This record gives sequence, C-alpha cells and structure tokens, in this order.
Amino acid sequence: MRILITAGPTREPLDAIRLLTNRSSGQLGIAVASEAIKRGHDTTLLLGRGTHSPPSTIEACCRRFDSTNDLQSLLDETFPAADLLIMAAAVADFIPEQAPAGTKMSRHDGPVQLTLHPAPDLVATIANRKRPEQTVVGFALEPGATLIDRAIAKLSKKGLDAIVANPLDTMESSHITARLIWANGQIDTAADDLTKEAFATWLLDRLAPGL
Ligand code: CTP
Repeated sequence: MRILITAGPTREPLDAIRLLTNRSSGQLGIAVASEAIKRGHDTTLLLGRGTHSPPSTIEACCRRFDSTNDLQSLLDETFPAADLLIMAAAVADFIPEQAPAGTKMSRHDGPVQLTLHPAPDLVATIANRKRPEQTVVGFALEPGATLIDRAIAKLSKKGLDAIVANPLDTMESSHITARLIWANGQIDTAADDLTKEAFATWLLDRLAPGL
C-alpha cells in the first residue's frame, strides 16, 4: 500500500526571525511511518520541525516542511499517488499577516498588534477531491469532555473517511489514549495510555490490514 503520513507542526513567519508555531512533537506520525516501513508499505512522511527527531531508518522517505503553504505544495505533489493519507500534522489555524520581507519588529516600536488570517483547511480540500479508492484519515485533538462529539463533527465537516480522536494531553506526551471513528459511525477503541509506537501498530492494523 502507498501510505502518506503528515506529522509535526507548521511554522508561520511573523517577521524575518520570529515564528508562530505549536507544541506538536511529530512523534506519533514518526512512529506510524516507522511501523509502515517495517511492514513493507511504500511510505512517505511529510514532517514539520517538531521536537522529536526522525530515526535514520525513515530519512529516505521523509520530506520536511515549514509553513502551511509548504505542506500544501508537498500534499499536492504526493497525494495523487497515495492509497492512504494519515494527516497527523498540527497545521496552523491562523496565518500571520507577514511583515515586509527582511524586516524585524522592534521592541522600541511599542505595542504590536498581530493580524491573523484563517489558514486553508488542507485535509478538507484533499478529502473533497480524492478519488473513491483513496482513504483520508484526520486527527482531532480536543479536551476530553467534548472529544468524541467534536471529532465526529470534524470527520463529517471535512469529509474524511475516519478520524483519530485524542485528548489534549497527548501533545508532547510519549503515550496516547485514542479512538478511531469511522464515517459509518463505527468507533474502535485502543487500550488506554499506549506508547505512541504501540498505538501506531494498533492504528495500521485497522487502516492497512493484511501486511
Ligand atoms: N488540519 C488541516 N488544515 C488546517 C488545520 C487542520 O488540514 N489548517 C487538519 C489536521 O491535520 C487534522 C484535522 O484537520 O487532521 C483536525 O485538525 P484540528 O486542528 O483539530 O481542527 P480544525 O479544523 O483546525 O478546527 P478547530 O480550529 O475548530 O480546532
């Protein structure tokens, strides 16, 4: 199977030296890519600059991105050849209006107001134009109390085939407690508090069974 995985944070420039980013480490997507390679899948990992470094075993299948725009270009290039997209990247919700190229905000300019524009929804765009035989799986990171309801709403709004619902404290943790929710309403529940490596195995057993 040709599996495309995205992982890690996007980084949006605020000026020539500052960035707007998030706490995603990229660890889960790296674990899924490692497991997919181990199983013999034709694997591509699109990886942001998170805190977790990829092992040398996945370097050959790994392409790096910085901004949402970079990730969009890489998805446009690689998704057409994929059977399955696992969209674990923590993509920006807002993109700063950028200062003119080569400039830097100075503390001496006084209070600074940032203008943030909504980012394009990459996975929704892809799901909207996918071929029927392609599978698109998203992630929803939400507070525990509203996790399942919010994940189901995102699954349907974005037109995904399935979504992994995991609580906010998954971020920067080495463990995960998650559910896989399918578009037909089926919910698969993984054991609580799995390592991200064990969860990657569980997830691929469901998304790409047989290898
Ligand atoms: N996602 C995306 N493009 C964005 C933001 C998110 O493709 N600009 C994808 C993520 O990779 C993930 C899924 O959408 O697979 C859900 O991301 P999440 O941030 O939880 O949802 P949002 O659509 O950003 O909704 P909200 O801002 O309400 O949380």
